[in-house]
Amino acid sequence: MRLGQYALGGIGDAEALMSAVIKIDPFNLLDDDACETRIAKVRRLLGERLVILGHHYQRDEVFRHADYVGDSLKLSRQAAGSEAEYIVFCGVHFMAEVADIVTGGRRKVILPDLAAGCSMADMANLVKVRKCWNEIGDVLDPDQYVTPVTYINSGADLKAFCGEHGGVVCTSSNSRGVLEWAYGRREKVLFFPDQHLGRNTAHAMGIPHEQMVLWDFNKPLGGLTPETIRQARIILWKGFCSVHQMFQPAHIEKFRRDYPNGKVISHPENAFEVCQASDVVGSTETILKTVRSSTAGMHWLVGTELNLVNRLRDEMKPKGVTVQFMSPLICNCSTMFRTDPQHLAWVLENLQAGSVVNRIQVPEPIAFPSRTALDRMLEISA
Ligand code: 13P
Ligand code: SF4
Repeated sequence: MRLGQYALGGIGDAEALMSAVIKIDPFNLLDDDACETRIAKVRRLLGERLVILGHHYQRDEVFRHADYVGDSLKLSRQAAGSEAEYIVFCGVHFMAEVADIVTGGRRKVILPDLAAGCSMADMANLVKVRKCWNEIGDVLDPDQYVTPVTYINSGADLKAFCGEHGGVVCTSSNSRGVLEWAYGRREKVLFFPDQHLGRNTAHAMGIPHEQMVLWDFNKPLGGLTPETIRQARIILWKGFCSVHQMFQPAHIEKFRRDYPNGKVISHPENAFEVCQASDVVGSTETILKTVRSSTAGMHWLVGTELNLVNRLRDEMKPKGVTVQFMSPLICNCSTMFRTDPQHLAWVLENLQAGSVVNRIQVPEPIAFPSRTALDRMLEISA
């Protein structure tokens, strides 16, 4: 799903809307403090009509305005149960799409900057997934033998594909339960777009590596042979997160030399070797809960995005717990970083003025089957 595809209706709607909206340009000249005051003012004025959701990777200046924070699963649930007229999603595009789908279009879901995508989500698209499905179909009947499972970090059209083919969505916190459900129905799984979450989860379930194959979407038959597809339990899409691929086993080895009693915690989007060398693997929410429950004197090495780690480090310091970022290099999620106080102030002041800018609306023919796949996930992980 391309960014901004659903932001406006027809051309007539767009023109009418554009004439009423406050433009972004003056907001880009405001400093963060000025934005802070303006955001707080609109939040007061709109009261319960507005809810702001914030993913853990958001920068501090945005994160502090969120009414609810969480990982992808927690935020989808929060959106699904929201009564607010406006949901401003400080996260990335697929998260706002999910919020629109699970609320059935009854809430106005807004993404402050439409360029806030996810490079991993962009590694799979409907044309390539359909091609993959058809090519697998030359070897065996995929609708009989293969459950498509998409990580929530994907476009709404891929969730719709899963909904239409007996498949399901998963997040980093429920991938195991979802895969168990999938294997209860069919013998194989096609997992996209993140090979690492798929591999790490399948390994934890005891699936041997010889039965995991990597689908290279740029090669005929994914670079595989009919025989390897027949013997595979899981077909992993060759996608990855550009932030998490920065973390290396060598970073963990060094930490273990420096702090023999320290502990390592990683997100499952990390490579298999990194997850294997870690003491705990879990979603952003799990990382926070685990580190927060540790006692004074503990040293943690954390393999996930920098904004989360920096906030956790500052929170835990007074409690005598040390939190260290896994990579010696700075690696932010640059698309999460797109949401700045300027864009947040801009969308909020538009709401106050009666204009809805940057609304994310998934068309019903796509939303309906996507909802099927998302509802399956929410039921499995209830
Ligand atoms: P969580 O659902 O664990 O927050 O992960 C989302 C994500 O995009 C991690 O890169
Ligand atoms: Fe996507 Fe990776 Fe950013 Fe998560 S950290 S939103 S997977 S690019």
